[in-house]
Amino acid sequence: MKTEILATATPDEREETVGRAVALLEAGEVVALPTETVYGLAADALSAAAVVKIFETKERPRFDPLIVHLPERGWLERVALIAKESRLLVDQLVDRFWPGPLSLVLPRRDLVPGIVTAGLTTVAVRMSAHPIFTEVVGRFGKPLAAPSANRFGRISPTSAADVAEELSGRIPLIVDGGETPHGIESTVVALRGGAMEILRSGPVAREELEKFGEVRLSSSEKAESPGQLPSHYRPATRLIIAEEISAVPVPRGKRYGALLWSDQPFSETFVESRRLSRSGDLREAAANLFRQLRELDRAHLDCIVAEALPEEGLGVAIMDRLRRAAHL
Ligand code: TXA
Ligand code: MG
Repeated sequence: MKTEILATATPDEREETVGRAVALLEAGEVVALPTETVYGLAADALSAAAVVKIFETKERPRFDPLIVHLPERGWLERVALIAKESRLLVDQLVDRFWPGPLSLVLPRRDLVPGIVTAGLTTVAVRMSAHPIFTEVVGRFGKPLAAPSANRFGRISPTSAADVAEELSGRIPLIVDGGETPHGIESTVVALRGGAMEILRSGPVAREELEKFGEVRLSSSEKAESPGQLPSHYRPATRLIIAEEISAVPVPRGKRYGALLWSDQPFSETFVESRRLSRSGDLREAAANLFRQLRELDRAHLDCIVAEALPEEGLGVAIMDRLRRAAHL
């Protein structure tokens, strides 16, 4: 299959590209779309036949459920059930964070095909804030199931070129909306008994959620968000995390690369170096993370050494992704 990459930079391009995307979705096809977190691989969430193509394209195991992206808030209660004790909290979270990088896990309604939720009794829902995604899902007029547009277990794509590297030849269309602003996947929160449980950390930090009530970190050892397997986002190159990058011994003749967080200067010990943020800004670091990991992964290194970040705010989500990228 030939994969087209279509631009959205001018109003004409945007009109044409969005029209193509909607037509393909209506024909039951999968299309890669930009969101404010990472690129998604979207299909009609209410069509099992369309959703099957997402799993096949990504080589994703069927036990890993998908996030349903709504065209508007009114759809929430058509796909999910909101228990009485969760109602106030759901309203507050939706008011504050939608559209945006927060996915809510709620009991599902039968309208959502079982393949979307991998047979679970719950469904993850969010509303993307990306203008292109919003326009496509709005014109489509129904929810879109969309996982990150990478092959299973690999680094999530933050540009159209990344998606092409992952899925070229497997999908008809990649909608190019430039680099994704957040650069890491949405925070996934389950609502149970009126409390919040973080299943995947992301751009909406724990501290922000705590303003609305009790927050628990996912307690169960077994991955409850099945995508939260310990090894995920794995680059081909070995990756280790170090508190003190200069203390890591680099064997003679080996090509090591550095992914820095602090403002220490680049060292010649490393043949390739990247800095997540010049100004120590965690938002910027998150936005650069996957792109820089991909760049380092392409540099034929023996090892990538990533400097540990402070685990507060967005630093929690970044460290989570680095740990999953590390070859233990
Ligand atoms: O930012 C994002 O969330 C991106 C963009 C494209 O929206 N999507 C994304 O989807 O990251 P995906 O499929 O790569 O990750 C979804 C995560 C997985 O870890 C999955 O196991 C979890 O959400 N998930 C989905 N439905 C769930 C459910 N009903 N219960 C628990 N976890 C769920
Ligand atoms: Mg993913």
